[in-house]
Amino acid sequence: MARILDGKQIAADIQQEVRERTTAFEASGIHFQLTVVLVGDHPASATYVRNKQRTAEKVGLKNTLIHLPGDVSEDTLLAEIDRLNADTEVDGILVQLPLPSHISEQVVIERIAPEKDVDGFHPMNAGKNFVGLSAVWPCTPAGIMEMFEREQIDVAGKHAVVVGRSNIVGKPMAMMLLAANATVTLCHSRTQDLAALTRTADIVVAAVGQPGLITAAHVKPGAVVVDVGMNRVDGKLMGDVAFEEVAPIAGAITPVPGGVGPLTVAMLMKNTVRLGCARRH
Ligand code: GUN
Repeated sequence: MARILDGKQIAADIQQEVRERTTAFEASGIHFQLTVVLVGDHPASATYVRNKQRTAEKVGLKNTLIHLPGDVSEDTLLAEIDRLNADTEVDGILVQLPLPSHISEQVVIERIAPEKDVDGFHPMNAGKNFVGLSAVWPCTPAGIMEMFEREQIDVAGKHAVVVGRSNIVGKPMAMMLLAANATVTLCHSRTQDLAALTRTADIVVAAVGQPGLITAAHVKPGAVVVDVGMNRVDGKLMGDVAFEEVAPIAGAITPVPGGVGPLTVAMLMKNTVRLGCARRH
Protein backbone atom coordinates (compact mmCIF):
# COMPACT_ATOMS: atom_id res chain seq x y z
CA MET A 1 0.00 0.00 0.00
CA ALA A 2 1.30 3.43 -0.99
CA ARG A 3 2.50 6.01 1.48
CA ILE A 4 -0.24 8.63 1.70
CA LEU A 5 1.21 12.10 1.12
CA ASP A 6 -0.56 14.26 3.67
CA GLY A 7 -0.99 17.59 1.91
CA LYS A 8 -2.93 18.98 4.83
CA GLN A 9 -0.07 18.39 7.25
CA ILE A 10 2.57 19.77 4.86
CA ALA A 11 0.36 22.80 4.21
CA ALA A 12 0.03 23.33 7.98
CA ASP A 13 3.84 23.32 8.26
CA ILE A 14 4.15 25.88 5.44
CA GLN A 15 1.44 28.03 7.02
CA GLN A 16 3.29 27.92 10.34
CA GLU A 17 6.46 29.18 8.64
CA VAL A 18 4.53 31.96 6.90
CA ARG A 19 2.92 32.89 10.22
CA GLU A 20 6.39 33.25 11.78
CA ARG A 21 7.46 35.59 8.98
CA THR A 22 4.36 37.77 9.12
CA THR A 23 4.75 38.01 12.92
CA ALA A 24 8.34 39.17 12.52
CA PHE A 25 7.27 41.85 10.00
CA GLU A 26 4.37 42.93 12.18
CA ALA A 27 6.91 43.88 14.83
CA SER A 28 8.18 46.53 12.42
CA GLY A 29 4.66 47.65 11.53
CA ILE A 30 4.39 45.87 8.18
CA HIS A 31 1.18 43.97 7.42
CA PHE A 32 1.27 42.14 4.12
CA GLN A 33 -2.01 42.19 2.28
CA LEU A 34 -3.58 39.75 -0.15
CA THR A 35 -6.52 41.00 -2.19
CA VAL A 36 -8.76 38.45 -3.86
CA VAL A 37 -11.11 39.49 -6.64
CA LEU A 38 -14.14 37.29 -7.20
CA VAL A 39 -16.47 37.94 -10.11
CA GLY A 40 -19.96 36.43 -9.95
CA ASP A 41 -21.23 33.53 -7.87
CA HIS A 42 -19.58 30.42 -9.31
CA PRO A 43 -20.18 28.09 -6.31
CA ALA A 44 -16.82 26.26 -6.44
CA SER A 45 -14.96 29.56 -6.84
CA ALA A 46 -16.79 31.03 -3.85
CA THR A 47 -15.70 28.02 -1.75
CA TYR A 48 -12.07 28.28 -2.88
CA VAL A 49 -12.02 32.01 -2.19
CA ARG A 50 -13.46 31.56 1.30
CA ASN A 51 -10.78 28.98 2.00
CA LYS A 52 -8.03 31.35 0.80
CA GLN A 53 -9.36 34.14 3.00
CA ARG A 54 -9.61 31.90 6.06
CA THR A 55 -6.04 30.73 5.57
CA ALA A 56 -4.77 34.29 5.00
CA GLU A 57 -6.38 35.25 8.29
CA LYS A 58 -4.70 32.32 10.05
CA VAL A 59 -1.20 33.16 8.82
CA GLY A 60 -1.49 36.85 9.70
CA LEU A 61 -2.06 38.35 6.26
CA LYS A 62 -4.43 41.24 5.84
CA ASN A 63 -6.95 40.06 3.31
CA THR A 64 -9.54 41.89 1.32
CA LEU A 65 -12.23 40.41 -0.89
CA ILE A 66 -13.51 42.41 -3.82
CA HIS A 67 -16.72 40.73 -4.92
CA LEU A 68 -18.03 42.05 -8.23
CA PRO A 69 -21.32 41.03 -9.87
CA GLY A 70 -21.22 38.42 -12.62
CA ASP A 71 -22.33 40.98 -15.23
CA VAL A 72 -19.60 43.50 -14.36
CA SER A 73 -17.95 44.97 -17.46
CA GLU A 74 -14.37 44.13 -18.35
CA ASP A 75 -13.53 47.85 -18.12
CA THR A 76 -14.82 48.08 -14.55
CA LEU A 77 -12.80 45.01 -13.54
CA LEU A 78 -9.67 46.44 -15.20
CA ALA A 79 -10.20 49.76 -13.41
CA GLU A 80 -10.40 47.85 -10.11
CA ILE A 81 -7.12 46.10 -10.91
CA ASP A 82 -5.50 49.45 -11.75
CA ARG A 83 -6.60 50.72 -8.37
CA LEU A 84 -5.12 47.69 -6.58
CA ASN A 85 -1.88 47.98 -8.59
CA ALA A 86 -1.55 51.56 -7.35
CA ASP A 87 -2.45 50.78 -3.71
CA THR A 88 0.87 50.59 -1.85
CA GLU A 89 -0.76 48.54 0.95
CA VAL A 90 -1.62 45.68 -1.42
CA ASP A 91 1.12 43.07 -1.84
CA GLY A 92 -0.70 40.37 -3.77
CA ILE A 93 -3.61 40.42 -6.21
CA LEU A 94 -5.47 37.25 -7.13
CA VAL A 95 -8.33 37.28 -9.61
CA GLN A 96 -10.19 34.01 -9.14
CA LEU A 97 -10.64 32.06 -12.38
CA PRO A 98 -12.71 31.17 -14.33
CA LEU A 99 -14.14 34.56 -15.26
CA PRO A 100 -17.51 34.99 -16.98
CA SER A 101 -17.21 34.47 -20.74
CA HIS A 102 -17.70 38.17 -21.64
CA ILE A 103 -14.40 38.97 -19.90
CA SER A 104 -11.02 38.06 -21.39
CA GLU A 105 -8.96 36.20 -18.79
CA GLN A 106 -5.77 36.97 -20.69
CA VAL A 107 -6.44 40.72 -20.73
CA VAL A 108 -7.19 40.65 -16.99
CA ILE A 109 -4.10 38.60 -16.12
CA GLU A 110 -1.88 40.96 -18.11
CA ARG A 111 -3.32 43.97 -16.31
CA ILE A 112 -2.12 42.78 -12.88
CA ALA A 113 1.23 44.37 -11.99
CA PRO A 114 3.79 41.53 -12.33
CA GLU A 115 5.23 42.41 -8.90
CA LYS A 116 1.80 41.76 -7.32
CA ASP A 117 0.94 38.66 -9.37
CA VAL A 118 0.70 36.01 -6.60
CA ASP A 119 -0.53 33.40 -9.10
CA GLY A 120 2.51 33.77 -11.35
CA PHE A 121 0.15 33.87 -14.35
CA HIS A 122 1.37 37.15 -15.89
CA PRO A 123 3.32 36.47 -19.12
CA MET A 124 6.24 38.42 -17.64
CA ASN A 125 6.45 35.96 -14.72
CA ALA A 126 5.69 32.90 -16.85
CA GLY A 127 8.43 34.02 -19.27
CA LYS A 128 10.95 34.62 -16.51
CA ASN A 129 10.26 31.18 -15.11
CA PHE A 130 10.56 29.67 -18.58
CA VAL A 131 14.11 31.00 -19.06
CA GLY A 132 15.20 30.22 -15.50
CA LEU A 133 15.00 33.70 -14.00
CA SER A 134 13.54 33.94 -10.53
CA ALA A 135 9.82 34.76 -10.42
CA VAL A 136 6.79 33.53 -8.52
CA TRP A 137 5.62 30.13 -9.78
CA PRO A 138 1.90 29.25 -9.96
CA CYS A 139 0.76 27.98 -6.56
CA THR A 140 -0.32 24.44 -7.47
CA PRO A 141 2.89 23.20 -9.13
CA ALA A 142 4.91 25.18 -6.56
CA GLY A 143 3.07 23.35 -3.77
CA ILE A 144 3.72 19.99 -5.40
CA MET A 145 7.46 20.72 -5.69
CA GLU A 146 7.49 21.86 -2.07
CA MET A 147 5.83 18.57 -1.10
CA PHE A 148 8.44 16.54 -3.02
CA GLU A 149 11.17 18.39 -1.18
CA ARG A 150 9.63 18.00 2.26
CA GLU A 151 8.83 14.32 1.67
CA GLN A 152 12.33 13.66 0.33
CA ILE A 153 11.05 12.62 -3.07
CA ASP A 154 14.02 13.29 -5.31
CA VAL A 155 12.92 14.11 -8.85
CA ALA A 156 16.37 14.56 -10.44
CA GLY A 157 16.89 12.06 -13.25
CA LYS A 158 13.41 10.57 -12.75
CA HIS A 159 10.86 10.24 -15.51
CA ALA A 160 7.95 12.54 -14.66
CA VAL A 161 4.80 12.34 -16.75
CA VAL A 162 2.48 15.33 -16.42
CA VAL A 163 -1.04 14.80 -17.72
CA GLY A 164 -2.70 18.12 -18.62
CA ARG A 165 -1.23 21.21 -20.30
CA SER A 166 -3.02 24.14 -18.67
CA ASN A 167 -1.20 27.40 -17.97
CA ILE A 168 -2.26 27.07 -14.32
CA VAL A 169 -0.90 23.58 -13.62
CA GLY A 170 0.36 21.32 -16.42
CA LYS A 171 2.75 23.63 -18.27
CA PRO A 172 4.37 25.22 -15.21
CA MET A 173 4.52 21.79 -13.52
CA ALA A 174 6.48 20.41 -16.47
CA MET A 175 8.83 23.43 -16.35
CA MET A 176 9.42 23.11 -12.61
CA LEU A 177 10.16 19.40 -12.88
CA LEU A 178 12.53 20.12 -15.75
CA ALA A 179 14.27 22.82 -13.71
CA ALA A 180 14.70 20.20 -10.96
CA ASN A 181 16.39 17.89 -13.49
CA ALA A 182 13.55 15.42 -14.07
CA THR A 183 13.03 13.97 -17.52
CA VAL A 184 9.60 15.28 -18.41
CA THR A 185 6.83 14.05 -20.68
CA LEU A 186 3.83 16.34 -21.05
CA CYS A 187 0.64 14.51 -22.04
CA HIS A 188 -2.78 15.91 -22.90
CA SER A 189 -6.17 15.10 -24.40
CA ARG A 190 -4.68 14.30 -27.83
CA THR A 191 -1.96 12.00 -26.51
CA GLN A 192 -2.08 8.54 -28.04
CA ASP A 193 -1.94 5.57 -25.65
CA LEU A 194 -1.68 7.60 -22.46
CA ALA A 195 -1.38 4.46 -20.30
CA ALA A 196 1.72 3.28 -22.21
CA LEU A 197 3.44 6.58 -21.34
CA THR A 198 2.29 6.91 -17.73
CA ARG A 199 3.35 3.28 -17.10
CA THR A 200 6.95 4.34 -17.75
CA ALA A 201 6.72 7.16 -15.19
CA ASP A 202 8.44 7.32 -11.82
CA ILE A 203 6.23 10.30 -11.07
CA VAL A 204 2.73 10.92 -12.46
CA VAL A 205 1.00 14.28 -12.03
CA ALA A 206 -2.64 14.18 -13.14
CA ALA A 207 -4.17 17.61 -13.82
CA VAL A 208 -6.91 17.23 -16.40
CA GLY A 209 -10.23 17.43 -14.56
CA GLN A 210 -11.45 13.97 -15.56
CA PRO A 211 -12.60 11.91 -12.58
CA GLY A 212 -10.80 8.59 -12.28
CA LEU A 213 -8.85 8.94 -15.55
CA ILE A 214 -5.69 7.43 -14.06
CA THR A 215 -6.36 3.77 -13.24
CA ALA A 216 -4.21 0.89 -11.99
CA ALA A 217 -3.35 0.17 -15.63
CA HIS A 218 -1.70 3.60 -15.92
CA VAL A 219 0.72 3.22 -13.01
CA LYS A 220 4.06 1.47 -12.61
CA PRO A 221 4.45 -0.30 -9.23
CA GLY A 222 6.14 2.04 -6.75
CA ALA A 223 5.50 5.24 -8.72
CA VAL A 224 4.66 8.54 -7.03
CA VAL A 225 1.16 9.64 -8.03
CA VAL A 226 0.03 13.24 -7.55
CA ASP A 227 -3.65 14.00 -8.08
CA VAL A 228 -4.53 17.61 -8.90
CA GLY A 229 -8.13 16.80 -9.92
CA MET A 230 -11.01 18.48 -8.09
CA ASN A 231 -14.09 16.99 -9.69
CA ARG A 232 -17.54 17.08 -8.19
CA VAL A 233 -19.28 13.76 -8.86
CA ASP A 234 -22.75 13.31 -7.32
CA GLY A 235 -21.86 15.95 -4.76
CA LYS A 236 -18.63 14.17 -3.82
CA LEU A 237 -15.13 15.53 -4.46
CA MET A 238 -13.13 13.16 -6.69
CA GLY A 239 -9.67 13.43 -8.15
CA ASP A 240 -8.34 12.49 -11.58
CA VAL A 241 -6.91 9.29 -10.07
CA ALA A 242 -8.96 6.19 -9.21
CA PHE A 243 -7.53 6.21 -5.70
CA GLU A 244 -8.88 2.85 -4.50
CA GLU A 245 -7.23 0.86 -7.26
CA VAL A 246 -4.06 2.97 -7.68
CA ALA A 247 -3.11 3.28 -3.99
CA PRO A 248 -2.24 -0.44 -3.60
CA ILE A 249 0.22 -0.20 -6.54
CA ALA A 250 1.77 3.26 -6.09
CA GLY A 251 4.75 3.97 -3.87
CA ALA A 252 3.24 7.25 -2.69
CA ILE A 253 -0.01 9.01 -3.52
CA THR A 254 -1.87 12.23 -2.68
CA PRO A 255 -5.50 11.88 -1.59
CA VAL A 256 -8.42 14.07 -2.73
CA PRO A 257 -9.37 15.96 -0.67
CA GLY A 258 -6.42 16.64 1.64
CA GLY A 259 -3.64 16.41 -0.92
CA VAL A 260 -2.74 19.09 -3.45
CA GLY A 261 -5.60 21.50 -2.58
CA PRO A 262 -4.26 22.62 0.82
CA LEU A 263 -0.73 22.88 -0.63
CA THR A 264 -1.97 25.30 -3.30
CA VAL A 265 -3.55 27.56 -0.70
CA ALA A 266 -0.45 27.45 1.51
CA MET A 267 1.77 28.44 -1.41
CA LEU A 268 -0.50 31.39 -2.15
CA MET A 269 0.31 32.67 1.34
CA LYS A 270 4.01 32.03 0.85
CA ASN A 271 3.96 33.81 -2.53
CA THR A 272 2.19 36.81 -1.00
CA VAL A 273 4.87 37.22 1.66
CA ARG A 274 7.60 36.74 -0.92
CA LEU A 275 6.17 39.47 -3.16
CA GLY A 276 5.54 41.73 -0.18
CA CYS A 277 9.15 41.38 0.97
CA ALA A 278 10.50 42.03 -2.52
CA ARG A 279 8.28 45.05 -3.15
CA ARG A 280 8.76 46.70 0.24
CA HIS A 281 12.37 45.57 0.86
N1 GUN B 1 -8.98 28.86 -10.27
C1 GUN B 1 -8.58 27.59 -10.05
N2 GUN B 1 -7.31 27.56 -9.61
C2 GUN B 1 -6.90 28.84 -9.55
C3 GUN B 1 -5.69 29.46 -9.17
O1 GUN B 1 -4.69 28.82 -8.80
N3 GUN B 1 -5.67 30.82 -9.23
C4 GUN B 1 -6.71 31.55 -9.65
N4 GUN B 1 -6.59 32.87 -9.69
N5 GUN B 1 -7.86 31.01 -10.02
C5 GUN B 1 -7.94 29.66 -9.97
